[in-house]
Amino acid sequence: MTAVRPESGSRTGAATGATPSDSPSVSATGFPTGFLWGAATASYQVEGAATVHGRTPSIWDTFSHTPGKVRNGDTGDIAADHYHRYREDVALMKDLGLGAYRFSISWSRVQPTGRGPAVEQGLDFYRRLVDELLEAGITPVATLYHWDLPQELEDAGGWPLRDTAERFADYTALVAGALGDRVPMWTTLNEPWCSAFLGYGSGVHAPGRTEPAATLRAAHHLNLAHGKGVQVLRGLLPADAQTSITLNLHQVRPLTTSAEDADAARRIDEVGNRVFTGPILDGAYPEDLLRRTSSLVDWDELVKPGDLEAIATPIDVLGVNYYTPTIVSASDGAGDSRDDGHGASDHSPWTGSEDVAFHLAPGQRTAMNWAVDASGLHALLTQLHEEHPELPLMVTENGAAFDDYVSPEGRVEDPERIAYLHSHLEAVRQAVADGADVRGYFLWSLLDNFEWSYGYAKRFGTVYVDYATQRRIPKASAHWYADVIRRGGLPD
Ligand code: FCB
Repeated sequence: MTAVRPESGSRTGAATGATPSDSPSVSATGFPTGFLWGAATASYQVEGAATVHGRTPSIWDTFSHTPGKVRNGDTGDIAADHYHRYREDVALMKDLGLGAYRFSISWSRVQPTGRGPAVEQGLDFYRRLVDELLEAGITPVATLYHWDLPQELEDAGGWPLRDTAERFADYTALVAGALGDRVPMWTTLNEPWCSAFLGYGSGVHAPGRTEPAATLRAAHHLNLAHGKGVQVLRGLLPADAQTSITLNLHQVRPLTTSAEDADAARRIDEVGNRVFTGPILDGAYPEDLLRRTSSLVDWDELVKPGDLEAIATPIDVLGVNYYTPTIVSASDGAGDSRDDGHGASDHSPWTGSEDVAFHLAPGQRTAMNWAVDASGLHALLTQLHEEHPELPLMVTENGAAFDDYVSPEGRVEDPERIAYLHSHLEAVRQAVADGADVRGYFLWSLLDNFEWSYGYAKRFGTVYVDYATQRRIPKASAHWYADVIRRGGLPD
Protein backbone atom coordinates (compact mmCIF):
# COMPACT_ATOMS: atom_id res chain seq x y z
CA MET A 1 0.00 0.00 0.00
CA THR A 2 2.27 2.67 -1.23
CA ALA A 3 -0.09 5.61 -0.89
CA VAL A 4 -0.48 5.31 2.83
CA ARG A 5 2.59 6.92 4.28
CA PRO A 6 3.89 10.39 3.55
CA GLU A 7 7.42 10.43 2.16
CA SER A 8 8.52 13.33 4.23
CA GLY A 9 7.21 15.25 7.17
CA SER A 10 5.59 12.09 8.51
CA ARG A 11 4.54 12.30 12.10
CA THR A 12 5.24 9.80 14.74
CA GLY A 13 3.82 11.65 17.72
CA ALA A 14 0.70 13.70 18.16
CA ALA A 15 -0.05 16.23 15.47
CA THR A 16 -0.41 19.15 17.76
CA GLY A 17 0.92 22.64 17.98
CA ALA A 18 0.97 22.54 21.78
CA THR A 19 3.83 21.37 23.97
CA PRO A 20 3.70 19.77 27.42
CA SER A 21 4.98 22.98 28.93
CA ASP A 22 1.67 24.57 27.88
CA SER A 23 -0.14 22.11 30.16
CA PRO A 24 -2.21 23.90 32.78
CA SER A 25 -1.66 23.28 36.48
CA VAL A 26 -4.22 21.34 38.48
CA SER A 27 -6.31 23.13 41.11
CA ALA A 28 -7.33 21.83 44.54
CA THR A 29 -10.53 20.33 43.12
CA GLY A 30 -8.49 18.07 40.84
CA PHE A 31 -9.48 19.90 37.65
CA PRO A 32 -6.93 21.97 35.73
CA THR A 33 -6.93 25.72 36.18
CA GLY A 34 -8.71 27.36 33.26
CA PHE A 35 -10.74 24.18 32.69
CA LEU A 36 -13.67 24.94 30.37
CA TRP A 37 -17.02 23.92 31.83
CA GLY A 38 -19.44 23.84 28.94
CA ALA A 39 -22.50 22.40 27.29
CA ALA A 40 -23.06 21.47 23.66
CA THR A 41 -25.75 21.42 20.97
CA ALA A 42 -25.79 21.01 17.18
CA SER A 43 -27.49 23.08 14.51
CA TYR A 44 -29.99 20.60 13.09
CA GLN A 45 -30.86 19.29 16.54
CA VAL A 46 -31.85 22.64 18.08
CA GLU A 47 -32.16 25.50 15.60
CA GLY A 48 -35.40 24.88 13.70
CA ALA A 49 -36.13 27.79 11.30
CA ALA A 50 -35.49 25.33 8.50
CA THR A 51 -36.51 27.58 5.63
CA VAL A 52 -35.79 31.15 6.78
CA HIS A 53 -33.57 33.49 4.76
CA GLY A 54 -32.96 31.06 1.93
CA ARG A 55 -31.82 28.07 3.98
CA THR A 56 -32.30 25.01 1.77
CA PRO A 57 -32.50 21.37 2.85
CA SER A 58 -29.54 19.54 4.27
CA ILE A 59 -29.34 15.76 4.08
CA TRP A 60 -30.99 15.63 7.50
CA ASP A 61 -33.98 17.69 6.30
CA THR A 62 -34.42 15.27 3.42
CA PHE A 63 -33.88 12.18 5.57
CA SER A 64 -36.22 13.25 8.36
CA HIS A 65 -38.93 14.08 5.84
CA THR A 66 -38.62 10.61 4.31
CA PRO A 67 -41.29 8.35 5.84
CA GLY A 68 -39.91 5.61 8.08
CA LYS A 69 -36.47 7.11 8.64
CA VAL A 70 -37.07 8.91 11.95
CA ARG A 71 -39.22 7.71 14.81
CA ASN A 72 -42.66 9.30 14.82
CA GLY A 73 -41.92 11.12 11.58
CA ASP A 74 -40.18 13.82 13.65
CA THR A 75 -38.16 16.46 11.80
CA GLY A 76 -35.87 19.33 12.75
CA ASP A 77 -38.20 21.91 11.16
CA ILE A 78 -38.83 23.59 14.51
CA ALA A 79 -36.67 21.59 16.96
CA ALA A 80 -36.00 23.67 20.09
CA ASP A 81 -36.43 26.86 18.04
CA HIS A 82 -32.97 27.96 19.18
CA TYR A 83 -32.74 30.16 16.08
CA HIS A 84 -35.41 32.44 17.50
CA ARG A 85 -34.79 31.81 21.18
CA TYR A 86 -31.00 32.01 21.33
CA ARG A 87 -31.12 35.10 23.58
CA GLU A 88 -33.21 33.29 26.15
CA ASP A 89 -30.94 30.26 25.82
CA VAL A 90 -27.77 32.29 26.33
CA ALA A 91 -29.39 33.87 29.41
CA LEU A 92 -30.03 30.34 30.70
CA MET A 93 -26.39 29.44 30.07
CA LYS A 94 -25.34 32.50 31.99
CA ASP A 95 -27.57 31.52 34.91
CA LEU A 96 -25.91 28.11 34.93
CA GLY A 97 -22.49 29.75 34.95
CA LEU A 98 -21.35 27.98 31.78
CA GLY A 99 -17.84 28.96 30.72
CA ALA A 100 -18.27 27.79 27.14
CA TYR A 101 -20.96 26.86 24.63
CA ARG A 102 -20.24 24.40 21.85
CA PHE A 103 -22.62 24.89 18.92
CA SER A 104 -22.45 23.94 15.27
CA ILE A 105 -23.02 25.94 12.14
CA SER A 106 -25.61 24.90 9.57
CA TRP A 107 -23.81 24.81 6.24
CA SER A 108 -27.17 25.11 4.42
CA ARG A 109 -27.95 28.31 6.30
CA VAL A 110 -24.63 29.91 5.38
CA GLN A 111 -24.12 28.56 1.86
CA PRO A 112 -27.38 26.91 0.79
CA THR A 113 -26.19 25.01 -2.26
CA GLY A 114 -22.80 24.21 -0.75
CA ARG A 115 -21.16 26.46 -3.35
CA GLY A 116 -20.72 30.12 -4.07
CA PRO A 117 -21.00 33.17 -1.85
CA ALA A 118 -22.34 33.19 1.70
CA VAL A 119 -25.86 34.28 2.57
CA GLU A 120 -25.16 37.18 4.92
CA GLN A 121 -28.44 36.72 6.80
CA GLY A 122 -27.39 33.16 7.52
CA LEU A 123 -24.03 34.28 8.88
CA ASP A 124 -25.80 37.03 10.83
CA PHE A 125 -27.53 34.48 13.01
CA TYR A 126 -24.15 33.16 14.14
CA ARG A 127 -22.75 36.67 14.51
CA ARG A 128 -25.63 37.53 16.83
CA LEU A 129 -25.27 34.30 18.77
CA VAL A 130 -21.53 34.81 19.23
CA ASP A 131 -22.00 38.43 20.30
CA GLU A 132 -24.61 37.37 22.82
CA LEU A 133 -22.29 34.69 24.21
CA LEU A 134 -19.33 37.05 24.49
CA GLU A 135 -21.52 39.63 26.16
CA ALA A 136 -22.50 36.97 28.71
CA GLY A 137 -18.85 36.02 29.28
CA ILE A 138 -19.27 32.60 27.63
CA THR A 139 -16.58 31.29 25.25
CA PRO A 140 -18.04 30.33 21.86
CA VAL A 141 -16.75 27.00 20.55
CA ALA A 142 -17.82 26.49 16.93
CA THR A 143 -18.14 23.20 15.09
CA LEU A 144 -18.23 23.67 11.33
CA TYR A 145 -19.92 20.39 10.45
CA HIS A 146 -22.23 18.33 12.63
CA TRP A 147 -23.63 16.00 9.93
CA ASP A 148 -25.89 18.40 7.97
CA LEU A 149 -24.46 18.40 4.44
CA PRO A 150 -26.31 20.64 1.96
CA GLN A 151 -28.57 18.31 -0.05
CA GLU A 152 -27.20 19.62 -3.35
CA LEU A 153 -23.75 18.37 -2.42
CA GLU A 154 -25.19 14.95 -1.61
CA ASP A 155 -27.00 14.97 -4.95
CA ALA A 156 -23.65 15.59 -6.61
CA GLY A 157 -22.19 12.52 -4.84
CA GLY A 158 -21.84 13.46 -1.18
CA TRP A 159 -18.84 12.55 0.98
CA PRO A 160 -17.79 9.61 -1.24
CA LEU A 161 -16.94 12.30 -3.82
CA ARG A 162 -13.57 14.02 -3.41
CA ASP A 163 -14.94 17.41 -4.43
CA THR A 164 -17.01 17.57 -1.21
CA ALA A 165 -13.76 18.05 0.74
CA GLU A 166 -12.92 21.05 -1.48
CA ARG A 167 -16.40 22.45 -0.93
CA PHE A 168 -15.90 22.10 2.84
CA ALA A 169 -12.64 24.05 2.65
CA ASP A 170 -14.42 26.90 0.81
CA TYR A 171 -17.27 26.90 3.31
CA THR A 172 -14.75 26.96 6.17
CA ALA A 173 -13.21 30.09 4.70
CA LEU A 174 -16.60 31.83 4.57
CA VAL A 175 -17.37 31.07 8.20
CA ALA A 176 -13.88 31.79 9.51
CA GLY A 177 -13.91 35.09 7.61
CA ALA A 178 -17.13 36.10 9.35
CA LEU A 179 -16.50 34.82 12.89
CA GLY A 180 -12.75 34.32 13.13
CA ASP A 181 -12.14 37.49 15.10
CA ARG A 182 -14.56 36.44 17.85
CA VAL A 183 -14.53 32.64 18.09
CA PRO A 184 -11.36 31.35 19.77
CA MET A 185 -11.99 27.59 19.38
CA TRP A 186 -12.88 25.79 16.17
CA THR A 187 -13.78 22.19 15.44
CA THR A 188 -13.82 21.05 11.84
CA LEU A 189 -16.01 17.94 12.03
CA ASN A 190 -18.15 16.28 14.66
CA GLU A 191 -17.86 12.49 14.74
CA PRO A 192 -16.92 11.80 11.10
CA TRP A 193 -17.33 8.08 11.94
CA CYS A 194 -21.08 8.61 12.13
CA SER A 195 -21.14 10.66 8.91
CA ALA A 196 -19.32 7.92 7.00
CA PHE A 197 -20.29 4.64 8.62
CA LEU A 198 -23.88 5.38 9.71
CA GLY A 199 -24.64 7.69 6.77
CA TYR A 200 -23.24 5.48 3.98
CA GLY A 201 -22.81 2.08 5.69
CA SER A 202 -25.73 1.07 7.90
CA GLY A 203 -27.90 3.89 6.54
CA VAL A 204 -29.46 4.72 9.92
CA HIS A 205 -28.28 8.31 9.48
CA ALA A 206 -28.66 10.69 6.55
CA PRO A 207 -28.25 10.27 3.65
CA GLY A 208 -29.26 6.68 4.41
CA ARG A 209 -27.06 4.92 1.87
CA THR A 210 -25.82 1.35 2.45
CA GLU A 211 -22.73 1.07 0.28
CA PRO A 212 -19.56 -0.35 1.89
CA ALA A 213 -17.16 1.10 -0.69
CA ALA A 214 -18.78 4.54 -0.49
CA THR A 215 -18.41 4.37 3.30
CA LEU A 216 -14.63 4.11 3.11
CA ARG A 217 -14.42 6.75 0.40
CA ALA A 218 -16.51 9.03 2.62
CA ALA A 219 -14.19 8.39 5.56
CA HIS A 220 -11.14 9.43 3.53
CA HIS A 221 -12.82 12.54 2.16
CA LEU A 222 -13.99 13.54 5.63
CA ASN A 223 -10.39 13.19 6.82
CA LEU A 224 -9.28 15.29 3.86
CA ALA A 225 -11.97 17.90 4.55
CA HIS A 226 -10.72 18.12 8.13
CA GLY A 227 -7.11 18.60 7.06
CA LYS A 228 -7.96 21.20 4.44
CA GLY A 229 -10.29 22.89 6.92
CA VAL A 230 -7.51 23.18 9.50
CA GLN A 231 -5.20 24.68 6.87
CA VAL A 232 -7.84 27.26 5.93
CA LEU A 233 -8.49 28.08 9.58
CA ARG A 234 -4.77 28.48 10.27
CA GLY A 235 -4.51 30.91 7.39
CA LEU A 236 -7.41 33.06 8.53
CA LEU A 237 -7.59 32.89 12.32
CA PRO A 238 -5.52 34.81 14.84
CA ALA A 239 -2.45 32.91 16.03
CA ASP A 240 -3.95 32.09 19.42
CA ALA A 241 -7.15 30.55 18.05
CA GLN A 242 -7.37 26.79 18.55
CA THR A 243 -8.27 24.15 15.98
CA SER A 244 -9.59 20.69 16.64
CA ILE A 245 -11.70 17.79 15.44
CA THR A 246 -14.20 15.88 17.56
CA LEU A 247 -14.13 12.07 17.32
CA ASN A 248 -16.42 9.49 18.89
CA LEU A 249 -13.65 7.08 19.74
CA HIS A 250 -15.15 3.71 20.55
CA GLN A 251 -13.87 2.32 23.81
CA VAL A 252 -13.63 -1.21 22.46
CA ARG A 253 -13.45 -4.19 24.83
CA PRO A 254 -13.26 -7.87 23.93
CA LEU A 255 -16.04 -9.99 25.49
CA THR A 256 -13.64 -12.70 26.65
CA THR A 257 -9.89 -13.19 26.87
CA SER A 258 -9.86 -15.44 23.80
CA ALA A 259 -7.48 -14.60 20.97
CA GLU A 260 -10.46 -14.46 18.58
CA ASP A 261 -12.23 -11.81 20.65
CA ALA A 262 -9.02 -9.82 21.03
CA ASP A 263 -8.69 -9.84 17.26
CA ALA A 264 -12.31 -8.71 16.85
CA ALA A 265 -11.62 -5.81 19.25
CA ARG A 266 -8.50 -4.87 17.31
CA ARG A 267 -10.39 -4.81 14.03
CA ILE A 268 -13.24 -2.72 15.43
CA ASP A 269 -10.66 -0.35 16.91
CA GLU A 270 -9.25 0.08 13.40
CA VAL A 271 -12.52 0.66 11.58
CA GLY A 272 -14.09 2.61 14.46
CA ASN A 273 -11.15 4.70 15.63
CA ARG A 274 -7.84 4.40 13.83
CA VAL A 275 -9.35 5.07 10.42
CA PHE A 276 -9.41 8.65 11.77
CA THR A 277 -6.71 8.88 14.45
CA GLY A 278 -4.25 7.07 12.18
CA PRO A 279 -4.09 9.66 9.40
CA ILE A 280 -4.96 12.67 11.59
CA LEU A 281 -2.47 12.06 14.40
CA ASP A 282 0.10 9.74 12.85
CA GLY A 283 -0.09 10.49 9.14
CA ALA A 284 -1.09 7.00 7.98
CA TYR A 285 -4.04 4.61 7.73
CA PRO A 286 -3.67 1.30 9.55
CA GLU A 287 -2.04 -1.13 7.10
CA ASP A 288 -4.27 -3.99 8.21
CA LEU A 289 -7.45 -2.00 7.57
CA LEU A 290 -6.24 -1.17 4.06
CA ARG A 291 -5.46 -4.81 3.42
CA ARG A 292 -8.81 -6.05 4.71
CA THR A 293 -10.78 -3.56 2.62
CA SER A 294 -8.66 -3.64 -0.53
CA SER A 295 -11.34 -5.58 -2.44
CA LEU A 296 -13.75 -2.69 -1.81
CA VAL A 297 -11.52 0.30 -2.39
CA ASP A 298 -8.38 0.97 -4.38
CA TRP A 299 -6.63 2.95 -1.66
CA ASP A 300 -3.73 3.90 -3.92
CA GLU A 301 -6.22 5.61 -6.20
CA LEU A 302 -8.30 7.09 -3.38
CA VAL A 303 -5.45 8.58 -1.34
CA LYS A 304 -3.79 11.10 -3.64
CA PRO A 305 -0.24 12.39 -3.16
CA GLY A 306 -0.28 15.08 -0.48
CA ASP A 307 -3.52 13.92 1.13
CA LEU A 308 -1.90 12.37 4.19
CA GLU A 309 0.25 15.45 4.79
CA ALA A 310 -2.87 17.64 4.59
CA ILE A 311 -4.85 15.38 6.91
CA ALA A 312 -2.04 15.40 9.48
CA THR A 313 -1.92 19.20 9.66
CA PRO A 314 -1.31 19.84 13.37
CA ILE A 315 -4.33 20.51 15.58
CA ASP A 316 -4.23 22.21 18.96
CA VAL A 317 -6.63 19.95 20.80
CA LEU A 318 -8.50 16.70 20.17
CA GLY A 319 -12.19 16.65 21.05
CA VAL A 320 -13.54 13.32 22.28
CA ASN A 321 -17.16 12.31 22.73
CA TYR A 322 -17.93 9.43 25.06
CA TYR A 323 -21.18 7.80 26.13
CA THR A 324 -20.69 4.03 26.63
CA PRO A 325 -18.18 1.27 25.92
CA THR A 326 -18.33 -1.05 22.90
CA ILE A 327 -18.11 -4.77 23.75
CA VAL A 328 -17.29 -7.17 20.93
CA SER A 329 -16.63 -10.81 20.19
CA ALA A 330 -15.73 -12.86 17.16
CA SER A 331 -19.10 -13.77 15.72
CA ASP A 332 -20.27 -17.26 16.52
CA GLY A 333 -23.38 -17.08 14.41
CA ALA A 334 -27.05 -16.80 15.33
CA GLY A 335 -27.97 -15.90 18.87
CA ASP A 336 -25.37 -13.18 19.28
CA SER A 337 -26.58 -9.73 20.12
CA ARG A 338 -26.10 -7.39 17.16
CA ASP A 339 -26.72 -4.27 19.17
CA ASP A 340 -23.77 -2.00 18.59
CA GLY A 341 -25.62 0.95 20.13
CA HIS A 342 -25.84 2.83 16.84
CA GLY A 343 -29.34 1.81 15.75
CA ALA A 344 -30.81 -1.25 14.08
CA SER A 345 -30.07 -1.92 10.42
CA ASP A 346 -29.82 -4.94 8.15
CA HIS A 347 -26.55 -3.46 6.94
CA SER A 348 -23.53 -3.45 9.23
CA PRO A 349 -21.72 -0.12 9.48
CA TRP A 350 -18.48 -1.97 10.32
CA THR A 351 -17.12 -2.11 6.80
CA GLY A 352 -14.61 -4.93 6.47
CA SER A 353 -15.50 -6.38 9.92
CA GLU A 354 -19.14 -7.29 9.41
CA ASP A 355 -18.59 -10.62 11.13
CA VAL A 356 -17.93 -9.12 14.57
CA ALA A 357 -20.72 -9.44 17.17
CA PHE A 358 -21.66 -6.69 19.62
CA HIS A 359 -22.84 -7.16 23.19
CA LEU A 360 -24.66 -5.10 25.74
CA ALA A 361 -22.66 -4.38 28.87
CA PRO A 362 -24.32 -5.48 32.10
CA GLY A 363 -25.62 -3.01 34.66
CA GLN A 364 -27.58 0.22 34.49
CA ARG A 365 -28.74 1.50 31.09
CA THR A 366 -29.86 4.87 29.85
CA ALA A 367 -32.98 5.46 27.75
CA MET A 368 -30.79 4.74 24.68
CA ASN A 369 -30.14 1.28 26.17
CA TRP A 370 -26.49 2.31 26.53
CA ALA A 371 -24.65 0.95 29.56
CA VAL A 372 -23.54 3.45 32.17
CA ASP A 373 -19.80 2.87 32.54
CA ALA A 374 -17.58 5.80 33.42
CA SER A 375 -14.44 3.63 33.43
CA GLY A 376 -14.59 3.80 29.63
CA LEU A 377 -14.08 7.56 29.70
CA HIS A 378 -11.10 7.24 32.02
CA ALA A 379 -9.59 4.54 29.80
CA LEU A 380 -10.18 6.59 26.66
CA LEU A 381 -8.47 9.69 28.04
CA THR A 382 -5.52 7.88 29.59
CA GLN A 383 -4.95 5.67 26.52
CA LEU A 384 -4.97 8.72 24.25
CA HIS A 385 -2.53 10.41 26.59
CA GLU A 386 -0.24 7.38 26.54
CA GLU A 387 -0.24 7.21 22.77
CA HIS A 388 -0.03 10.97 22.23
CA PRO A 389 1.50 12.49 25.39
CA GLU A 390 1.64 16.01 23.96
CA LEU A 391 -1.95 16.10 22.74
CA PRO A 392 -4.34 18.30 24.76
CA LEU A 393 -7.77 16.71 25.04
CA MET A 394 -11.26 18.07 25.51
CA VAL A 395 -14.39 16.07 26.33
CA THR A 396 -16.67 17.68 23.76
CA GLU A 397 -19.73 15.53 24.53
CA ASN A 398 -20.81 13.37 27.43
CA GLY A 399 -24.26 12.86 28.89
CA ALA A 400 -27.27 10.59 29.01
CA ALA A 401 -30.89 10.32 27.92
CA PHE A 402 -33.49 9.39 30.50
CA ASP A 403 -37.30 9.44 30.41
CA ASP A 404 -37.68 12.87 31.99
CA TYR A 405 -41.06 14.38 32.78
CA VAL A 406 -42.39 17.50 34.46
CA SER A 407 -43.80 16.88 37.95
CA PRO A 408 -47.14 18.42 39.01
CA GLU A 409 -45.04 21.04 40.83
CA GLY A 410 -43.37 21.96 37.55
CA ARG A 411 -39.98 20.40 38.33
CA VAL A 412 -37.90 17.87 36.42
CA GLU A 413 -36.02 15.56 38.77
CA ASP A 414 -33.29 13.60 37.00
CA PRO A 415 -31.18 11.88 39.68
CA GLU A 416 -29.94 9.24 37.20
CA ARG A 417 -28.44 11.98 35.01
CA ILE A 418 -26.80 13.58 38.03
CA ALA A 419 -25.28 10.23 38.98
CA TYR A 420 -24.14 9.69 35.37
CA LEU A 421 -22.52 13.13 35.13
CA HIS A 422 -20.94 12.77 38.56
CA SER A 423 -19.30 9.44 37.76
CA HIS A 424 -18.05 10.64 34.38
CA LEU A 425 -16.65 13.89 35.76
CA GLU A 426 -14.93 11.82 38.42
CA ALA A 427 -13.43 9.75 35.60
CA VAL A 428 -12.14 12.95 33.99
CA ARG A 429 -10.65 14.07 37.31
CA GLN A 430 -8.94 10.71 37.71
CA ALA A 431 -7.58 10.85 34.15
CA VAL A 432 -6.14 14.30 34.93
CA ALA A 433 -4.58 12.88 38.10
CA ASP A 434 -3.08 10.14 35.91
CA GLY A 435 -1.46 12.74 33.69
CA ALA A 436 -3.93 13.31 30.83
CA ASP A 437 -4.03 16.92 29.63
CA VAL A 438 -7.81 17.48 29.62
CA ARG A 439 -8.77 21.08 28.96
CA GLY A 440 -12.56 21.03 29.24
CA TYR A 441 -15.85 19.15 29.50
CA PHE A 442 -19.02 19.79 27.52
CA LEU A 443 -22.22 18.26 28.75
CA TRP A 444 -24.42 16.83 26.00
CA SER A 445 -26.77 18.53 25.81
CA LEU A 446 -27.76 21.97 26.96
CA LEU A 447 -31.32 21.41 25.71
CA ASP A 448 -33.55 18.45 24.94
CA ASN A 449 -33.42 18.20 21.17
CA PHE A 450 -33.90 16.23 17.94
CA GLU A 451 -31.97 13.02 18.62
CA TRP A 452 -31.43 12.04 14.98
CA SER A 453 -33.27 8.84 14.01
CA TYR A 454 -34.89 8.73 17.47
CA GLY A 455 -36.51 12.11 16.89
CA TYR A 456 -37.76 13.83 20.05
CA ALA A 457 -38.24 10.51 21.88
CA LYS A 458 -34.87 10.77 23.66
CA ARG A 459 -34.15 13.61 26.04
CA PHE A 460 -30.45 14.37 26.56
CA GLY A 461 -30.87 17.94 27.81
CA THR A 462 -29.91 19.26 31.20
CA VAL A 463 -32.65 21.77 30.38
CA TYR A 464 -36.08 20.29 29.62
CA VAL A 465 -37.88 21.56 26.52
CA ASP A 466 -41.67 21.42 26.40
CA TYR A 467 -41.96 21.18 22.62
CA ALA A 468 -45.61 22.30 22.58
CA THR A 469 -44.79 25.68 24.15
CA GLN A 470 -40.98 25.77 23.77
CA ARG A 471 -40.81 26.49 27.49
CA ARG A 472 -37.41 25.69 29.01
CA ILE A 473 -37.21 24.13 32.49
CA PRO A 474 -33.73 23.53 33.94
CA LYS A 475 -33.71 19.98 35.30
CA ALA A 476 -32.28 19.14 38.73
CA SER A 477 -29.06 18.18 36.92
CA ALA A 478 -28.74 21.74 35.59
CA HIS A 479 -28.76 23.09 39.14
CA TRP A 480 -26.28 20.37 40.14
CA TYR A 481 -23.99 21.22 37.20
CA ALA A 482 -24.18 24.93 38.04
CA ASP A 483 -22.94 24.06 41.53
CA VAL A 484 -20.07 21.98 40.08
CA ILE A 485 -19.08 24.91 37.87
CA ARG A 486 -19.21 27.32 40.82
CA ARG A 487 -16.92 25.06 42.86
CA GLY A 488 -14.71 24.25 39.88
CA GLY A 489 -15.09 20.59 40.79
CA LEU A 490 -17.29 17.88 42.22
CA PRO A 491 -19.14 18.13 45.54
CA ASP A 492 -17.87 15.72 48.20
C1 FCB B 1 -23.48 12.03 19.46
C2 FCB B 1 -23.83 13.19 18.57
C3 FCB B 1 -24.79 14.16 19.19
C4 FCB B 1 -25.87 13.47 19.99
C5 FCB B 1 -25.25 12.47 20.94
C6 FCB B 1 -26.26 11.76 21.81
O1 FCB B 1 -23.08 10.95 18.69
O2 FCB B 1 -22.67 13.88 18.21
O3 FCB B 1 -25.33 14.96 18.17
O4 FCB B 1 -26.79 12.91 19.16
O5 FCB B 1 -24.52 11.53 20.24
